[in-house]
Amino acid sequence: MTDYRRLRVALLGAGAVGSQVASLLRKHGDELADRAGAHLELIGIAVRNPDAPRDADLPRELLTTDPEPLIVGADIVIELMGGIEPARSYLLQAINSGADVVTANKALLATHGPEIFEAADQVGAQVYYEAAAAGAIPIIRPLRDSLAGDRVQRIMGIVNGTTNYILDRMDSEGAEFADVLADAQRLGYAEADPTADVEGYDAAQKAAILASLAFHTSVPLEAVHREGITGIDKAMMDAARHAGYVIKLLAVCERLTGADGAESISVRVYPALVRRDHPLASVHGANNAVFVQAEAAGNLMFYGAGAGGVQTASAVLGDVVSAARRHLAGGVGVGESNRANLPILPIANVTTRYQITLEVDDQPGVLATVAGILSEGDVSIATVEQTVRSEPVPGNGSPVTEPASDTVARLVIGTHKALEQNLSETVDRLAASGVVERVVSVLRVEGD
Ligand code: NDP
Ligand code: HSE
Repeated sequence: MTDYRRLRVALLGAGAVGSQVASLLRKHGDELADRAGAHLELIGIAVRNPDAPRDADLPRELLTTDPEPLIVGADIVIELMGGIEPARSYLLQAINSGADVVTANKALLATHGPEIFEAADQVGAQVYYEAAAAGAIPIIRPLRDSLAGDRVQRIMGIVNGTTNYILDRMDSEGAEFADVLADAQRLGYAEADPTADVEGYDAAQKAAILASLAFHTSVPLEAVHREGITGIDKAMMDAARHAGYVIKLLAVCERLTGADGAESISVRVYPALVRRDHPLASVHGANNAVFVQAEAAGNLMFYGAGAGGVQTASAVLGDVVSAARRHLAGGVGVGESNRANLPILPIANVTTRYQITLEVDDQPGVLATVAGILSEGDVSIATVEQTVRSEPVPGNGSPVTEPASDTVARLVIGTHKALEQNLSETVDRLAASGVVERVVSVLRVEGD
């Protein structure tokens, strides 16, 4: 074994990810030493309960409930506890003790990123967080380093595995949301409380991290528009399929240029229609993918496991090797670049294409009324499809085709790009117009 310098590594957390990091660090110690140029000595692992069962076989003597001596004695601190506190305080303590830090904590970075990066900047330390967005997929380094010479225009990401699993099964099996969610919980994709995933909070945290890097602008979590998938039902899935789309929960991060040439950005998470021939439509199961459009590079797609203990440990260990190399090389760390500081547009000012599905009475003049309301709202129609379904006769359950006044028409209206504010006001007017029986769905169309 080469006589490398020893770097002391402290691990905070030995759960799904941490236990795999510790296990791989021990199993591949010699190989990692050759790559890092230093022997990575795991000096201890902080946990809440040292006697709890672990996913990996870890020496009991490494486990402790007292993180502080580990933190101050380490060259590299890996934070895999999750949550805001005490993770935030421990990371700041590690930085101020001269350690480089590695974390997968998207919740912490999306809410306290600037504070942590600023603290690292002050002392010349580096913060590594490849696993904080899209798990095992290398996306942080490509945005921060590989594309540093380019201008990212747009990111469309499937960054939450649980929701992709649910939507994919609803699409492929015609299953209902509640049934698939129950399966996802049984299989361990979704938590007992699935709110963070199904309401889009997890994806919004990742969107804030990706947009901050891509646009060199600090994007606070509050600036990310967020909608979840709990309103998506089988009828919406069927309608999307019929129209050649699939519904995906997307994180969309976009650079926009106004008429005066001024740039701004928009960061949003919502379920959207994606054409079936778009690369993101073929992301199945709990996988993640990030589609990046850059001015010079063109279209790039990053695909793989967005979660999972051992998969995420791969990204964490890549960061540990980078941290070791930097520690050996010395010099100041490279801070996050927020120099562009672009304004972040509210969702009302964003333009997108939409698909509006309405149920209307099949009466003369109804289509003209609907078209008139859209026109008044400055929403331009691109496509209209009408299907007529007969209302069952109350009492006997059999369909009738006459008289025409008993029939309901389903209108599926595709719009050209429209301002969100105009669109939502127009949908309100449609709903109140007297000719619309039901607004079935309003979905944005992305990636066309
Ligand atoms: P777990 O909940 O499985 O593990 C958390 C670990 O931290 C446990 O070992 C726990 O100890 C320990 N811990 C929690 N609080 C404290 C505390 N106050 N003091 C000491 N130890 C503490 O989390 P995961 O491994 O799933 O996630 C870790 C991080 O990685 C999170 O930030 C998460 O968002 C991120 N991440 C996770 C992914 C995944 O697939 N799981 C994917 C991508 C990112 P004990 O075991 O004794 O309870
Ligand atoms: N809950 C997340 C997901 C995993 O379903 O993708 C970690 O980010």
